[in-house]
Amino acid sequence: MRTPFMAGNWKMYKTAAETTAFFEKFLPLVANSSHCDVAICPTFVNIPAAVAAVAGSKVGIGGQNLYWAKEGAFTGEISAPMLKAVGCQYVIIGHSERRQFFGETDATVLKKTVAALEAGLTPIVCVGELLADREAGNTEAVLVEQFNGGIAGLSETQFAQIVIAYEPVWAIGTGKVATPDMAADAHRTIRAQVEKKFGADAAKAVRILYGGSVKPDNVKGLMAQIEIDGALVGGASLDANSFAGVVNF
Ligand code: PGA
Repeated sequence: MRTPFMAGNWKMYKTAAETTAFFEKFLPLVANSSHCDVAICPTFVNIPAAVAAVAGSKVGIGGQNLYWAKEGAFTGEISAPMLKAVGCQYVIIGHSERRQFFGETDATVLKKTVAALEAGLTPIVCVGELLADREAGNTEAVLVEQFNGGIAGLSETQFAQIVIAYEPVWAIGTGKVATPDMAADAHRTIRAQVEKKFGADAAKAVRILYGGSVKPDNVKGLMAQIEIDGALVGGASLDANSFAGVVNF
């Protein structure tokens, strides 16, 4: 049985004070939510406030990105060991906004994933097609290409420690959620690639999250799909009541 996992991606939102205020409201709402793992990924500067706020709770904290070198002359970058040292458990890698606006490729996704694993972080590795890909009937081809160019470069042992997030780019921040069937189809495609590359046990074990306009009122339908193991949530994770509604689907 795969434990469901609900992760919030705060993107470039909230100050440290707003981070603390969020957890004051949120933690009591999920205190009894033992059915799933929960994480929040704030901006780098708010990670210490978030780590302090969740101390003693079941909520984990993650980064939204990292650089693959451990340290060095890379102005503006943050490394995996730094995230680990400040109290992170997770890190999002290859989010479509990173791919779209900051030049991430499948090759950099692989380097970052390996760096995260070496530091003892759990990477949440994102894949997903653009609207044009879907309309051209290329969804499956894009997912296979992203898988082969990135995740497939891991060893079996490394693969066993990652979480995958399927995020159709056209559904991110648009209010257009993929239907549960569409999402499950894409998850099946990804799981089939996992089976081909890493074997049946790995395919059965890996958690694949859906991301893209997940809200309290559509999460239940998505989670009813056996293929969907949780959600990576942007907008709806910024409000304590709304993210608690997702966690307690
Ligand atoms: P959204 O973002 O929930 O606001 O669509 C999801 C994501 O980008 O991870």
